[in-house]
Amino acid sequence: MENSAPILEVTSLATGYHRVKIVKNLQLSVFPAEIVCIIGPNGAGKSTVLRAVYGFLSCWEGNIRFKDEDITHLPAVKRAAKGMALVHQDGNIFPNLTIQENLEMGGYLIPEASERRARMDRLFAQLPFLHEKRKQAARSLSGGERQLLAIGMALMTEPDLLLLDEPSMGLSPQMMDRVFSWIVTIHEAGKSILMVEQNAKQALELAHRGYVLDLGTNRFEGDAKRLLDDPKVKRLYLGGGDINEDLS
Ligand SMILES: Nc1ncnc2c1ncn2[C@@H]1O[C@H](COP(=O)(O)OP(=O)(O)OP(=O)(O)O)[C@@H](O)[C@H]1O
Ligand SMILES: [Mg+2]
Repeated sequence: MENSAPILEVTSLATGYHRVKIVKNLQLSVFPAEIVCIIGPNGAGKSTVLRAVYGFLSCWEGNIRFKDEDITHLPAVKRAAKGMALVHQDGNIFPNLTIQENLEMGGYLIPEASERRARMDRLFAQLPFLHEKRKQAARSLSGGERQLLAIGMALMTEPDLLLLDEPSMGLSPQMMDRVFSWIVTIHEAGKSILMVEQNAKQALELAHRGYVLDLGTNRFEGDAKRLLDDPKVKRLYLGGGDINEDLS
């Protein structure tokens, strides 16, 4: 996989909020048809990285390339048009709109109604519960179903790279399995996926490569299975341990 050019390449990224630098010297790449997972403690800057990749936060240093093009200073809407979609950690659906209306919102960049309809039908075929409940307000869905809807909204743009911020957050183990298994299905359909996850073990089990982010920068990276077995990663990030201890 790594013989081809990366679909996403982030080099020496720095960004933050109100002049406070949160992410610094971050290197990250995603190759075509790869699932890459970012793990790390709360507040490490994982969501901040995804926001910068998608263009909701400006890049203070470094650069971002997507499909062989420099997109460092491109606004989010243009990144979306180039084939990137982001599912936020929270507030990723419109609870008062129906499921169908949510999916239409997901496809707002597609000018032709017939194409929007065709994409929605393909999603309904994959997730029949969305079709059954299409006239219901999205707030009537369970947490896991909402997450599936949010991912469905992102898929309406048929992105090549899907950015997922904690898709399993707050879900029961069963619902988590359902969300993860859909992520695998999406990957099998040829999409590249960059996913942030708190459920680090499960996420690394399905990912190809992983990054451990701590204090805004990469601490560890590599083959997902190798990270799962790395004693230091295990001790610090996968099963308790003191994150302030020496990382050198
Ligand atoms: N909108 C914002 N304004 C100011 N500071 C922010 C904002 N969003 C995040 N931060 C700060 O940036 C740092 C990183 O936050 P971020 O949400 O990226 O972490 P995270 O790794 O996604 O954490 P979590 O696992 O809790 O989702 C934190 O110190 C946070 O307080
Ligand atoms: Mg986050």
